[in-house]
Amino acid sequence: MSPPRATPITPERPVSGAFGRSMRVYRVILGLAFEAARGKAVALFAFAAVFGMFGAITGLVTKLVVDALSGGDPGRAMAIGVGYLLLVGATGLVDDVAALLQSDLGERTSHAVEQKLMTVSSAAAGLEHLERPEYADKVKLVRDRSFIPYFAFTNLNSFSSIFFGLVAAVVLLGFVHPLLSVLPVVVAPGVVVQFKNYRKHFVRHDATALDERLARHYLELATEPAAAKEIRLFGLGPHLIERHRKITDAYNGMLFRDQLHRSWAGVAAGALYGAALAGAIAFVGWLALDRRATLGDVALVVQVARMAIGQVQSAARQAAWLAELSFVGERYLWLLDYRPTVAVKPAAEAAPVPDRVEQGIAFDHVSFTYPGTDEPVLTDISLFLPAGTTVALVGENGAGKTSLVKLLCRFYDPTEGRITVDGTDLRDLDLDAWRARTGAAFQDFVHFQLVASEAVGVGDLPAIDDLERVGASARQAGADRVIDRLPDGLDTQLGRWFEGGVDLSEGEWQRVALARGLMRPSPALLVLDEPTASLDPRAEHEVFATFAAMTRRKGGDSPITVLVSHRFSTVRMADVIVVLHDGRIEEQGSHDDLLATGGRYAELFRLQASRY
Ligand SMILES: Nc1ncnc2c1ncn2[C@@H]1O[C@H](COP(=O)(O)OP(=O)(O)OP(=O)(O)O)[C@@H](O)[C@H]1O
Ligand SMILES: [Mg+2]
Repeated sequence: MSPPRATPITPERPVSGAFGRSMRVYRVILGLAFEAARGKAVALFAFAAVFGMFGAITGLVTKLVVDALSGGDPGRAMAIGVGYLLLVGATGLVDDVAALLQSDLGERTSHAVEQKLMTVSSAAAGLEHLERPEYADKVKLVRDRSFIPYFAFTNLNSFSSIFFGLVAAVVLLGFVHPLLSVLPVVVAPGVVVQFKNYRKHFVRHDATALDERLARHYLELATEPAAAKEIRLFGLGPHLIERHRKITDAYNGMLFRDQLHRSWAGVAAGALYGAALAGAIAFVGWLALDRRATLGDVALVVQVARMAIGQVQSAARQAAWLAELSFVGERYLWLLDYRPTVAVKPAAEAAPVPDRVEQGIAFDHVSFTYPGTDEPVLTDISLFLPAGTTVALVGENGAGKTSLVKLLCRFYDPTEGRITVDGTDLRDLDLDAWRARTGAAFQDFVHFQLVASEAVGVGDLPAIDDLERVGASARQAGADRVIDRLPDGLDTQLGRWFEGGVDLSEGEWQRVALARGLMRPSPALLVLDEPTASLDPRAEHEVFATFAAMTRRKGGDSPITVLVSHRFSTVRMADVIVVLHDGRIEEQGSHDDLLATGGRYAELFRLQASRY
């Protein structure tokens, strides 16, 4: 019985409503900042509270100095002044320390986010998430905004600063006259207007996310080497610039209109704040005339009321930033919560991979549809790959060869049916152990821009430093000649991203990939998905001759080799040839059998033979 498929995209813990979700977002991303550098984050948080109260303290000092002077006690005024100066000096120092801690925390949190992204993207056993556009979109968004936990942290600090500042202000104003302590409430309508404008801006910003990504894509196409040849040949440069310009013009127009809107709202709100401030000062002036307040009280209200209004304003701004914060944060959480469909059994519960595959690998009525699509790409595949044999998969582009190979590596699970290794369902096998016994060279192989020995050695991490093994794999893949020509041999940096790096031709890169695929010490399965497509026919022939000799020499221990190739001179060496067409097995057998049958294989073979 096949295990139930895990449902993708389920939240870790269901939280009710937008508020609950936003709080969880805030908590998780803030947690990242504190995780990245706990001591520094706590210190900065404490500083923020102190800084928040500084305005109120200044107001209080002003009052005390004015009162001392008007009470005829200049000595006292002087002492308070000196104390205050010392305090200012100390906070200046703390400010410098805070700036240092902040920049460090900012870097650390960004890198923590990058590492989290690397973990969630690469730890999932399957490939589904990486081949889905909505996943890729979110990864890109979060990657581009990896500063978001730091942003959340400064947001929290601002709130704490504002909170302590406001409490201090309300208390001091209340001392002068209880009526003055309602000042922050009076300015609320202006704040609401500003907040709404900010929010609207973020919502619109969100709506342009796709355009923004497109503009970025055009930028990358025009500035990165991958597309350079086609861009030049097809004369796409000006066209891309024009597309970029259209999008960014619209975007900038939107930004400017929003900014203008906010400016007007700001002017209106400013008038309201000004009126409230003037009212408060007039009120305390009147109290002073009436001898119910001192001159110091007047000075205090002028200082503190202005500061309190400013604090309320920045609270509105911070609350609006929260909207952006939760936008990015929710996508980050979505990534963390994403449940891939390939469910991995813990090693303790999983069946061990046999030291030696005795019978073979069987496909039992396997069908497969890519997640998020409707059409099956493999339908009712029943196939036996006998132990120690080479099985070639042939078929036209899109026939399903690579998809079948992906199932063998368990990058996906079949939608129907099952794949068994000596009778054990692949889903029940210890997946890490299965991968450790699988060697592979893929059609879309990677150009690892590493030192040559590593570019081969990563094919079996425990042996990355074993230069003998690396050398042997390179020889089997015909990559030794590539490496021998490099200026520093195995120590040569590959790729042109790095100073002194040597770029290889596509065929040379492919030989390195093939060598990497041959690094596993005792593979049970060897997957070669067009590993020689970029090699010239003679090179391909040599590779396979060496390769066939190698597998035969190992006798009974030789892996099951699954070979995908469009070249029949290679394919005919296989023990079994499977012809796929439109995701179904059309015919299978040895080269001679299939020629005798006179089906699609025979037709394709004659077509190719007639051309050489
Ligand atoms: N990640 C994916 N998501 C959705 N559909 C996919 C995905 N990868 C491949 N397909 C579809 O599956 C079908 C089979 O593709 P597959 O790569 O298995 O073909 P192939 O036989 O290896 O072809 P080729 O000879 O060109 O390498 C194609 O129609 C393709 O569009
Ligand atoms: Mg393919």
